[in-house]
Amino acid sequence: MTDTKKPNRQQGDVSVHLQPEQVRAALCAEVAAGLSASPKELSPKWLYDDLGCELFDQITQLDEYYPTRAERSILDSHATEIQRLSAANTLIELGSGTSEKTRLLLTAFRDAQCLNRFVAFDVAEETLRDAVAKIQADYPEAEVTGIVGDFTQDLSVLPTAGTRMVAFLGGTIGNFHAPQRQSFLASLAQILKPGDSLLLGTDLIKDRSRLIAAYDDSAGVTAAFNKNLLSVLNTELHAEFDLDSFTHVALFNEADSCIEMRLRSTCDQQVVIRDLNLKVDFAAGEDLLSEISTKFTLQQVEEEFSVAGFRTLHCWTDPEQDFALWLALR
Ligand code: AVJ
Repeated sequence: MTDTKKPNRQQGDVSVHLQPEQVRAALCAEVAAGLSASPKELSPKWLYDDLGCELFDQITQLDEYYPTRAERSILDSHATEIQRLSAANTLIELGSGTSEKTRLLLTAFRDAQCLNRFVAFDVAEETLRDAVAKIQADYPEAEVTGIVGDFTQDLSVLPTAGTRMVAFLGGTIGNFHAPQRQSFLASLAQILKPGDSLLLGTDLIKDRSRLIAAYDDSAGVTAAFNKNLLSVLNTELHAEFDLDSFTHVALFNEADSCIEMRLRSTCDQQVVIRDLNLKVDFAAGEDLLSEISTKFTLQQVEEEFSVAGFRTLHCWTDPEQDFALWLALR
């Protein structure tokens, strides 16, 4: 793998562990496999091109989408306590995006005079460069760096200095299927040292109608977000998906306790994916699974921490118990 990382990190540096060619190769491989499989499935990471990031940002502001607000309220109330309990002086954020909520943590670290380092880790290079520059400007005392990478593959490149807290917020852990989730937690535990910690956001099981509404909002933003996946394939792979012949579906899978976002074909059709030299048949009513979002019980998360090798230090929830934020020690 090409590695343009510099030996000594400088303030504001962004190191790239994921080249555009690798991203494209992964997309080709996943689309070829995922659309030939039954049921059809693609990884949710392809939802997040520039328009997808913008639509997700709009989702976080919808009335129906409670997770972002709930997690922010927890961070608002407890960031100081989180820093104190962890004793961390280095914050690493996985899937950092704009790092907007993370500022609550950064400020708490700074107020405790413990903000030595902030490392933002994301696949989206432009968003990351922008976030790193803005955060460096607002927290000049810290060494702020970025890593462009895929956190399911590149965890070994995380910096090792300091007492580290890895933050994985938003409930994104819920995007993994159970086996991948468990191996992800185990590999995190493996790269961390005793005394390092994990700050994990998990969405919680609740009333089914509220869960579904959060993924099928009345303004249709989530539907547009989901359908944008097909635009990504049209643009990147010269596919010929007709967006009008697929509908957005959000349902709750009781067996796996997850929301499933699907794209449902409204008719029998064959879709050409030119760059892959592939023709994909869809029957009327056939679904393509584009994202799962797992909803947890508190007990489930505790069990998974312990299996992976983490010790739960504390769990905070919002007053409605919609969302939980966990601090677990390696
Ligand atoms: C960013 C993965 C946490 O699963 O709730 C929001 C993505 N998908 N609406 C989630 C999402 C549809 C979101 N995560």
